[in-house]
Amino acid sequence: MRTQVAIIGAGPSGLLLAQLLHRKGIDAVVLERKTRDYVLGRIRAGVLEVGFVELMREAGVADRMERECLIHDGTRISYGDEQFGIDFKDLTGKPVVVYGQTELTRDLFDAREATGAPIIYNVEGVEIHGADSDAPYVTYRADGADHRLECDYVAGCDGFHGVSRQTIPASVRRDYEKVYPFGWLGVLSDTPPVSDELIYCNSERGFALCSMRSETRSRYYIQCSLSDDPNSWSDAAFWDELKRRIPGEAADRLVTGASIEKSIAPLRSFVSEPMRWGRLFLCGDAAHIVPPTGAKGLNTAASDIHYLYHGLVQMFEDRDSEGIDHYSERALARIWKAERFSWWMTTLLHRFPEQSDFDLKMQRAELEFLRENRAAQMVMAQNYVGLPY
Ligand code: APR
Ligand code: PHB
Repeated sequence: MRTQVAIIGAGPSGLLLAQLLHRKGIDAVVLERKTRDYVLGRIRAGVLEVGFVELMREAGVADRMERECLIHDGTRISYGDEQFGIDFKDLTGKPVVVYGQTELTRDLFDAREATGAPIIYNVEGVEIHGADSDAPYVTYRADGADHRLECDYVAGCDGFHGVSRQTIPASVRRDYEKVYPFGWLGVLSDTPPVSDELIYCNSERGFALCSMRSETRSRYYIQCSLSDDPNSWSDAAFWDELKRRIPGEAADRLVTGASIEKSIAPLRSFVSEPMRWGRLFLCGDAAHIVPPTGAKGLNTAASDIHYLYHGLVQMFEDRDSEGIDHYSERALARIWKAERFSWWMTTLLHRFPEQSDFDLKMQRAELEFLRENRAAQMVMAQNYVGLPY
């Protein structure tokens, strides 16, 4: 089989790239290790930058999102007995859009299936060959047979545990990593959100976040120990702990209910450089991870896809390699700023095991400065709504 772009992975990165290329008449084959239902079963964040929404529009998959999303003009931050708002709309002219990653991925799957273009599920043993030559190809097993897919370019959209990043020789690649000494215990419930804006809480018992998926579905998180088992947290214990970390008036009106999903996510900052090796391009979680504080995971994937998509169109339509030649440099320049922002939000809002009294005073001073200073709020708002592509 032959295609123009072999896309490894049918997460948001791979599906969005496939759909954008399809609209430009560029042929792609998507290879996915799991099934569609498995991919849709993963619960992830749901705060989109306006730049992401524009990319979804360009891909022709924004209709349901525009009907069902919630527009947020700001967010709230609490610490101790204090709480304040950051007004994104006032500070930057832009809101953020709340729409769950599961729904967005479902829209991308539906759009891909409607085009009749292939997604090959349940593939095993994917290997990328000749990425540093003019004739790359991908081999894999599916339906009990070995296959070979020839292509012009390979997009490695296969997440943190995929094969694409590992294909780049260790002598070329450099990884940068920071692992945080705690996790987030998340609960999804069919209860109305406690607030119409997200509330990020720095409490002496640890971080908490009140988020949502819709007017009837909430998503809450509490900082927890990495050794905790989500099954040993009963719903009652979770709600009880959450109430102790969020502002009192929010705790009083919190509507609790049965959890429909409960899981623990570790927190990590990670970047692998370069993001291009010959004809192989890494996108999204395959190249970088951010801790979830600040909701940049999905949004950093989108900016990679933006740069790669435009580079590939420039190459296929005009035989001009300028965009793909600068892909790694442009993507990384934006990624590192999102890494900085996510690391800063994480540091500002969590309790760390080794934190001294001095460290706690610094955290509090930073929160107070943010509450009082419009310039500091502007910096936070510009990063939260998304830096320009
Ligand atoms: N072969 C084929 N597919 C693979 C392989 C492989 N060897 N390894 C992984 N995959 C698939 C996974 O099953 C998954 O469906 O690649 C996909 C990668 O998807 P994500 O992990 O969601 O990564 P990405 O699309 O870059 O999404 C970035 O969305 O999922 C969130 O946390 C993620 O917020 C981040 C953003
Ligand atoms: C979520 O809704 O899951 C969410 C929102 C904001 C974050 C992280 C997660 O910073």
